Amino acid sequence: RKFRMSLENIVIIGMPGSGKTSVGKSVARNMNREFIDIDLEIEKTVKMKPSEIINQYGEPHFRQLETEELRRHCMKNEVVISTGGGSILKRENYYYMKENGMLFLLERELSKLDRKDRPLSKSIEKLYEQRKEKYIDFSDIIVQNENIEETAKEIEGKFYE
Ligand code: S3P
Repeated sequence: RKFRMSLENIVIIGMPGSGKTSVGKSVARNMNREFIDIDLEIEKTVKMKPSEIINQYGEPHFRQLETEELRRHCMKNEVVISTGGGSILKRENYYYMKENGMLFLLERELSKLDRKDRPLSKSIEKLYEQRKEKYIDFSDIIVQNENIEETAKEIEGKFYE
């Protein structure tokens, strides 16, 4: 297979618990690219977990931090970026993500989403209703995530010809 030369970032969006981090790590490993997890970058910057920031300072404050990290990391080249599930809530974020990136939406059955340590996932159906159009609107390519390795391969496949 021939590698399609591309400096484009791979940006992964989707519902909380849909597997963005696992799939992103796998893609980065297979393609030998740097992996960046926006939630983790926020955590490194403020020394608090996203759930703690939201619980203590509220969601708007967290969203500001999120936009700042997205802006900073999406300027890079050839990296794999996993975003937080709410990154589609601000239009501004779209322009940062699209700056140099191909946006992959991970879809997964709501009942299969991982809800561990996710304060906003209490009512997943409602969250999905509020967000689904935005996820689709932001995405370049939609992939169904049933299996981490298969999904990673599908994403990588878009960079080969
Ligand atoms: C959020 C999802 C979380 C994290 C924060 C808010 C959301 O990331 O950014 O708790 O609004 O959907 P994951 O999608 O990795 O769970």
